[in-house]
Amino acid sequence: MKILHAAAEMFPLVKTGGLADVIGALPQALAAEGAEVRLLLPGLPAVLQGLAQPRRVCDIGAVFGAARVTLWFGRFAHSGVDAYVVDAPYLYCRPGNPYQDAAGIAWSDNAQRFALLGWVAAHLAAGELDSAWTPELLHAHDWHAGLACAYVAAHPGTRAATVFTVHNLQYQGLFDAADYHLTGLPSRFMARSGLEFHGQVSFMKAGLSFSQRVTTVSSSYAAEITTEAFGCGMDGVLRARAGDLCGILNGVDGAVWNPQTDTAIARPYSRTAMHGKAECKARLQQALGLQVDPQAPLFAVVSRLSPQKGLDLVLAVLPELLAQGAQLVLQGSGDADLEQAFADAALRFRGQVAVRLVYDEAYAHQIIAGADAIVLPSRFEPCGLTQLYGLRYATIPVVRRVGGLIDTVVDADAQALAEKRATGFAFGPASADALAQALSRAVAMYRQRAAWAGLMDNAMAQDFSWAKAAKSYMQLYRDMLAPRA
Ligand code: ADP
Ligand code: GLC
Repeated sequence: MKILHAAAEMFPLVKTGGLADVIGALPQALAAEGAEVRLLLPGLPAVLQGLAQPRRVCDIGAVFGAARVTLWFGRFAHSGVDAYVVDAPYLYCRPGNPYQDAAGIAWSDNAQRFALLGWVAAHLAAGELDSAWTPELLHAHDWHAGLACAYVAAHPGTRAATVFTVHNLQYQGLFDAADYHLTGLPSRFMARSGLEFHGQVSFMKAGLSFSQRVTTVSSSYAAEITTEAFGCGMDGVLRARAGDLCGILNGVDGAVWNPQTDTAIARPYSRTAMHGKAECKARLQQALGLQVDPQAPLFAVVSRLSPQKGLDLVLAVLPELLAQGAQLVLQGSGDADLEQAFADAALRFRGQVAVRLVYDEAYAHQIIAGADAIVLPSRFEPCGLTQLYGLRYATIPVVRRVGGLIDTVVDADAQALAEKRATGFAFGPASADALAQALSRAVAMYRQRAAWAGLMDNAMAQDFSWAKAAKSYMQLYRDMLAPRA
């Protein structure tokens, strides 16, 4: 089964969030299930540099405002995954992240930049760019690749099936209607039944409307996004496609996130040899300038600082949490007001609160290994990966009962504790009170050493593997391709 995945980022070369982790791990897991997987990525500088043994597939010429577009094929050494890379220096060779400049302003030509990605995906799917390999199925991720589904739909000769995965419905790839002509798509697609969204062009809606199947990254989020509260205005479209929509939970890349083999952490540990975790905690406290106190429950946040993540609630409950003898470490960057507020908190509560306003992959491992608990008070969370990393590292998740957090964390209520199923603490309303209660429950249980050890053991016993996710995707692909056989 030949599958092409199109996406904007991939760990470890380009990463702004969980999408990169997914694209860095899912292709190998699908390959292990027998699929022949290739990736398609935009030629950002790090991606071009990371492509081993590049071979020119074709010259595409001048499209989307770029004078010279070349398609390369090669392999990513770290994963062994084969990939096409769209080399368009005018559109992709710039500093900053895939979507924004260093000041956080969206690139003004994102419509062209991501239309090109979708256009190349669709033309590969049509067999027009690489005569040696034509995918049977094109799998596009998030709005960045959403237009691929529209281009396939506009090209009646293309046999490839299309899947579109929503990683985060809030980012919709909205552009001015005046930019529509840049896409080269038929004018009939610029309609409510197509990719028009309140007078604008939405690349996300292109994926939702023109793909054959839509998936998202947890079952709970799949249900939530069909409601007004979580649908970001797209709930009507999603309700109309309910029969084609399903959730497949993300996994954890065990080659990257495994406390037994993790070279970034102070000392490895495992479910049967846990002593290393105490050393990870002590070293972390020391490095962060926190009081080195094994008895102080250490809560962690590793997150983008965006309204989605509900971290204003953490600020609201912080004095109350610290009064119970707890500590907090936060690593994240994003929203300027949140950055300032957390920086202020670190100054105010020296020795109890540490804040790192940076993106630092290795340090994220040290924090997740060294902390006792990881906090995700998200307003919405399609899947969430850091709670999964927490579970693997016996770092107990404290989460809001929403999206993928519902599907991955079992609250330590009396019944779950009795049945040895509890893995964390969950709360309902997005309020400071509800978070404070959950944190207090966590602190209280932390002080009961046997109960906490039980939680850690249950957490580490969880299996959120990519193999499981890959099996579900393979089933979906087979269902879609079967009638064509
Ligand atoms: P989202 O994709 O919404 O940001 P996820 O939980 O799915 O949320 O994925 C976030 C990913 O980004 C995780 O791999 C997490 O460890 C990483 N991450 C977020 N912020 C930072 C940071 N400041 N430093 C290092 N890694 C981070
Ligand atoms: C998005 C979501 C996050 C999810 C990630 C990977 O960024 O916010 O919940 O885990 O995509 O699917």
